[in-house]
Amino acid sequence: MLLNKTLIGLATGIMCSLTFVANAAPIEIKFSHVVAENTPKGQMALKFKDLVDEKLPGKVTVKVFPNSQLFGDNKVLEAMQLGDVQMAAPSLSKFKKYTKKLQIFDLPFLFTDIDSVERFQKSAVGIRLLRSMERKGLIGLGYLHNGMKQLSASAPLKVPNDAKGKKFRIMSSDVLAAQFMAVDAMPVKKPFSEVFTLLQTKAIDGQENTWSNIYSKKFFEVQDYITESNHGVLDYMVVTSKSFWDSLPSDVRAEVQSALDEAIAYGNGIAAKKAEQDKQQIIDSKRSSIITISTEQRQLWVTAMKPVWKRFERKIGKEYIDAAISANQVN
Ligand code: SIN
Repeated sequence: MLLNKTLIGLATGIMCSLTFVANAAPIEIKFSHVVAENTPKGQMALKFKDLVDEKLPGKVTVKVFPNSQLFGDNKVLEAMQLGDVQMAAPSLSKFKKYTKKLQIFDLPFLFTDIDSVERFQKSAVGIRLLRSMERKGLIGLGYLHNGMKQLSASAPLKVPNDAKGKKFRIMSSDVLAAQFMAVDAMPVKKPFSEVFTLLQTKAIDGQENTWSNIYSKKFFEVQDYITESNHGVLDYMVVTSKSFWDSLPSDVRAEVQSALDEAIAYGNGIAAKKAEQDKQQIIDSKRSSIITISTEQRQLWVTAMKPVWKRFERKIGKEYIDAAISANQVN
């Protein structure tokens, strides 16, 4: 009799906890970013949401907040540490407070093209960098491409001397500040959400960005010239907080990672196409003239800016820079 009662009690307990699991509210991932939806990052985030819906129905939901709607890029990582947002994909230039090593991606003329960047990110060194902020409570889950950066300005920029004395908006990176100071220009650190107005009101003269950002945020409508300089890379790291990541059941964590890997591959495919398409849209708009520089003119920019590497070598680590140089060679 007593045994029966105990068994009934146990069974009821198990049923209750199963019902609780079945009825538990899904885990929510707020994914915050600063760009438009029709960009590689915007599309990747939406794809990630769809894949999570498909792989983890009722268990995890993703809410995407584009265009700095939830947090601007100067606040999102602090918000992540506080648990107010679970995922973001800031540009690699925006992690200075958390690690100096990622500044490698800002060194001017380090990578020859996006394929070199891809090889570096996939290398053992690149993979190690995903964990470079773990002690600060942030974990990198993957890299995403946007593309190579171009210089835009209100006056034509052909040689470094053309940039002298001009104000350029930059992301919050000391390497980028040094890059512009190397050509006697004035760098101004500002969030992405302010760039259009700063350009429109002529508070600054120019900025550096990818074709997709210049197009989707309409910078080309308020900049008369864009120099096709390909002088640096603008890529992203998808990050989460260590405490959130560790709190996920391991099977859920594996599915979320797999959805993200798939979404990143999709976003990278879009990045490759968008760079060409958005450049063409800008040409067709006739709002901004595209300047193609000669090999000799490009070399002048390289000579002026490359000394920045040496200045940051100790902070970044020579072995990382060497690995990036090797990634320029196709095996
Ligand atoms: C982004 O692509 O996320 C923003 C880049 C910038 O701040 O210029």
